[in-house]
Amino acid sequence: PIVYVLNGPNLNLLGMREPEIYGHETLDDIADRLEDHAREIGLSVDMRQSNHEGHLVDWLHEANAGGAKAVILNAGAFTHTSIALHDAIKAIAVPVIEVHLSNPHKREEFRHQSFVGRAAKGTIAGFGPLSYVLALDAAAKL
Ligand code: DQA
Repeated sequence: PIVYVLNGPNLNLLGMREPEIYGHETLDDIADRLEDHAREIGLSVDMRQSNHEGHLVDWLHEANAGGAKAVILNAGAFTHTSIALHDAIKAIAVPVIEVHLSNPHKREEFRHQSFVGRAAKGTIAGFGPLSYVLALDAAAKL
């Protein structure tokens, strides 16, 4: 079973980007962790990143059409703005798990609204890279 791990804008800069908030691990480091853990629990992961909203919409459709077991989605700032992502999640059968490195509820007011969270199966936030690993465990049990 395959789990898509989709990452939105600015997450390509992870490791250098506001390390006091997001830490020093890069997205490649997180991909390595996830691949190791996926192997242990009998899953495979397809990890992607884009700065473009429509790519994330297309990949959600692709995950659904391809029969993915789940999608782990860190939509970055699109979390707080994108009705298109909200609607894409609603439109597909594959369960979507929202993840964040930081806990948006502890941060600025504009991060408290999540259009992704309104449509997702559930949310894991605030645990740094571990958020992704926890989401993979959740995906395995769905
Ligand atoms: C983030 C939180 C978002 O508010 C922010 O725009 C990001 C990263 C996180 O993983 O903590 O880009 O999704």
